[in-house]
Amino acid sequence: MGLSRRKFLHRIGAVGGYGAAYSVMTTLGLMAVPAKAAPLQLPATLGAGKRVVVLGGGIAGLVATYELERAGFKVTLLEARDRLGGRNWTLRNGSKVEMVGEADQTVSFSEGLYMNAGPARIPSHHQGLLGYCDKLGVPLEVEVNASRSALIWSEGSNGGQPIQMRQGVSDTRGHISELLAKAIRKGALDQELTAADREKLLPFLRFYGDLDESMAFKGSERSGMTQLPGAGPQLSVKRTPLSLKDLLANEQLRQTLFEEQLVQQATMFQPVGGMDRIPAAFERAIKSPVIRNAEVLKIRQAPAAVTVAWLDRASGAERTTRADFAIVTIPLNILAGIDSNFDPAVKAAIADVPFGYSNKIGFDAPRFWEQQQIYGGISWVGGETNMVWYPSNGMHAARGMLLACYASGDVAKSLAARPMAEQIAIAKTAVGHLHPGHAGDLSRPAVVNWSKIPFNLGPWPAWVGSGRASEGSMVDAGFRLLNAPHGRVYFSGAHLSQLPSWQEGAVSAAQRTLGLIAARVSQSAATGGGRPAAPA
Ligand code: PHE
Repeated sequence: MGLSRRKFLHRIGAVGGYGAAYSVMTTLGLMAVPAKAAPLQLPATLGAGKRVVVLGGGIAGLVATYELERAGFKVTLLEARDRLGGRNWTLRNGSKVEMVGEADQTVSFSEGLYMNAGPARIPSHHQGLLGYCDKLGVPLEVEVNASRSALIWSEGSNGGQPIQMRQGVSDTRGHISELLAKAIRKGALDQELTAADREKLLPFLRFYGDLDESMAFKGSERSGMTQLPGAGPQLSVKRTPLSLKDLLANEQLRQTLFEEQLVQQATMFQPVGGMDRIPAAFERAIKSPVIRNAEVLKIRQAPAAVTVAWLDRASGAERTTRADFAIVTIPLNILAGIDSNFDPAVKAAIADVPFGYSNKIGFDAPRFWEQQQIYGGISWVGGETNMVWYPSNGMHAARGMLLACYASGDVAKSLAARPMAEQIAIAKTAVGHLHPGHAGDLSRPAVVNWSKIPFNLGPWPAWVGSGRASEGSMVDAGFRLLNAPHGRVYFSGAHLSQLPSWQEGAVSAAQRTLGLIAARVSQSAATGGGRPAAPA
């Protein structure tokens, strides 16, 4: 482009503000990632005379449309479904769930209950998405991601009884602290620790593990009590600790650490009333044409313009939209099936990405879990249904939506291969392991197998060649190629971020794409090139 890298960044900064320069700089690896990026700020006249067609009305497409229209572009958003949001999808009474190869479901939850079929939690550090919630006025409440009253259960462990999270956490820590203290006192760590370190570490371990004066773990009030302290002479009675052997026999013991993952740490949020309050807020804010039921059939780019042919699913008519640029947020596995004149290498990169599996099964139920002091949080059962996730809202109401399955990957693939009735039965059985006698309380199931949901056919990509489909470490050549502009086409969406399973990935990918377009438009304005395409 005949520009030095510094000038290039300076130009992006000038037109796109700090946000755009930041996203390009981090992409180029020039800057350590700070805790928080400033919000994207494009100049209001940047897009004058330029048309952009945005394909896909999920979070990425909504962010792109919202920001582009504010920057003076003429934008059209095409969405294949009759609703916006993409994977951000909330099921309520009357919602329809269509899945390829399955009978249609009509959700029949009690009034006020809902199930976030896709994203259901927002970490505190997902400031891009939280920023839009703030700006667009989406009320948030705390999502209770973990509860010490929740349970872990595994076949054959603890005589078939679930273990309370607080006991799993504290008893394990107690035993490990005792072992470590023993090793130190025997001199086994004298090479690793100075005498001064050991002197400090031992009293810390005593507190860490709640050990007695002999540095033995004999149980802790942190693990729960068989009798709570009460009035008058009612003393507290500690639980007998579980043995380390019993704890280790529970295959879900590692889930005592689930909330330690950065992305799962308190404070987590959810929009009040359902995750789809976010797309609804974008919808209110966007003035550009948003066309639903618009299924993309063909994408053709020429030197002067991009043309998108789409099917109006409501009328059956075929239409075209022409623009200077297209932002394509359609999931890659779906895009692979759409006729295009992309370069062969780009087509190959798109076709190369297999998509994963993820399921959720929700029930309408009386809030029996509250009798066990479970208010929000997650219990873990493993297997194909993996977890039971309790509602974070509506405490002490008569009924709640109990998510009795949320699993991804191989176990999700095998569950989705089963008939729906069997999936429901497995989820009920799992709830029965955790809450004996209550499997029968579960009614009005809603089953979502993302691998069968039209226009997604999978929750997120499993990148080939990256070794693992791991978030935060996508370095694949195909991934890099698709992250670069392709003529007048910009691929975007959470699948082109390091956070494909998070709405924040969609926000950051869209903002990065906008930064690239901003740099290009301002550059072509400076050189007098890039006349706008004539409208179709
Ligand atoms: N973002 C998804 C979730 O919150 C998937 C995920 C799970 C990602 C756990 C990271 C860790 O459930």
